[in-house]
Amino acid sequence: MRKPLIAGNWKMNTKLEEAKSLVRAMVTELDNIAGVEKVLCPPFISLAAVKELIKGTSVELGAQNMYFEDKGAYTGETSPLMLIELCDYVILGHSERRQYFFEKDEVINKKVKKAFESGLKPILCVGESPEENESGKTEQIITGQVTADLTGISPTSQLVIAYEPIWAIGTGEAATGKQANATISLIRSILANLWNKETAEVVRILYGGSVTSSNIAEFIVEADIDGALVGGASLKANEFVSIVSQTANLKSTR
Ligand code: PGA
Repeated sequence: MRKPLIAGNWKMNTKLEEAKSLVRAMVTELDNIAGVEKVLCPPFISLAAVKELIKGTSVELGAQNMYFEDKGAYTGETSPLMLIELCDYVILGHSERRQYFFEKDEVINKKVKKAFESGLKPILCVGESPEENESGKTEQIITGQVTADLTGISPTSQLVIAYEPIWAIGTGEAATGKQANATISLIRSILANLWNKETAEVVRILYGGSVTSSNIAEFIVEADIDGALVGGASLKANEFVSIVSQTANLKSTR
């Protein structure tokens, strides 16, 4: 059975002290919720401080990006060797990276490979644009992204995929549970074709895009949805705790 996972993507929000306050406001409650993996993804600059505050708890840490080389003259980049000292997870291929920083599938594929080699678990984001969705290209786009991003990667249960339709991110217009589940089932069948059925059954696939405490239940009750990648609502302690606790109530593996 797949253990549900809720990850908070803080994006480029929270200065150091704000990050620490946010963690302090929720770490005990999060720690007390069993049966769900809880992952916080603060900005790089706060990773070490957050790591200190979650020490000894069941809360885990993720980064929002990484480069695909270990070290060298890559000004401004962050290496997997630096992240592995702090993090369990790394978000890769987020649509904001694809859109604003021109990350192509080829680069994302290198990052996913490197994350696995370095012992980091990637949360690989895929999703279609509003235009692609409206013109009925969702299946084609998602198949293309998943296939390209996982090229040359051996089957592994350590992969996490987040299906994040771009039209639902930060817009307040989430997909419906049924819509999200249909695309997530599609992703599972792509994985079964690319890798094998057994691995496809154990890889966690999350939904992301305007998830809040008011709509999380709609996603979590769906059979193929294993959790959520939460942006805006992860910046409010009570919201994030509620999302995690509803997930535990509806789908925990205890
Ligand atoms: P949102 O962002 O929850 O603010 O829509 C989700 C994401 O981009 O991961």
